[in-house]
Amino acid sequence: MDSFKKNESITIDGEGLSLRLRAANEDDLENLRQWKNDHRAFFFHKMVISPEQQRAWFNTFKTRSDDFMFIVEVNHSAIGCMGIRLLGEVWDIYNVILGLPDYRKKGYMGKALQAMLNFAQSGNHCPMTLQVLQSNPAVAWYKKNGFVITGEHSDHFSMAYQPNNG
Ligand SMILES: CC(C)(COP(=O)(O)OP(=O)(O)OC[C@H]1O[C@@H](n2cnc3c(N)ncnc32)[C@H](O)[C@@H]1OP(=O)(O)O)[C@@H](O)C(=O)NCCC(=O)NCCS
Repeated sequence: MDSFKKNESITIDGEGLSLRLRAANEDDLENLRQWKNDHRAFFFHKMVISPEQQRAWFNTFKTRSDDFMFIVEVNHSAIGCMGIRLLGEVWDIYNVILGLPDYRKKGYMGKALQAMLNFAQSGNHCPMTLQVLQSNPAVAWYKKNGFVITGEHSDHFSMAYQPNNG
């Protein structure tokens, strides 16, 4: 994990636009908070997050070496976020949110997700997994992006990245 840095930045080549993943910093906390609150129906945590709670999360997050929160930027504008963290021997993808609806269904979030997965695999070759509520339309999106359902629970699915089995 020597090459892993909290301030990682990944540039994705595109036609005439700049799509980039960069590490979230203090200036992103209000965006992260609003995006999560706006989309809380899709997540396990349903309570509205306060500015103080968001900051407390960030202070703890900063101390965890195998936990990455990225901001997705298109032409230097922050449009969304996505995180990945090592839990034991597996990567757990979390907090994937398109914050700005104008950028929906343009392929940006899918490309950013693939870049984040490549980043994680290059540092630590572990299975890549996630948990998603069964009612969330993102289940179909994850399938299109190479994930399969590996477990069915009372309200959510476990999924794992198996791009050749989709
Ligand atoms: C899940 C989420 C991030 C997907 O965002 P998105 O902007 O739709 O993602 P993408 O642009 O990558 O989606 C690809 C879609 O764009 C279309 N698309 C258009 N142009 C494209 C291009 N150049 N390249 C790739 N896909 C393109 C694809 O055909 C696909 O459409 P389809 O789903 O009808 O097949 C977003 O819906 C979201 O934030 N949801 C709420 C939060 C949430 O539920 N997160 C997951 C919690 S576990």
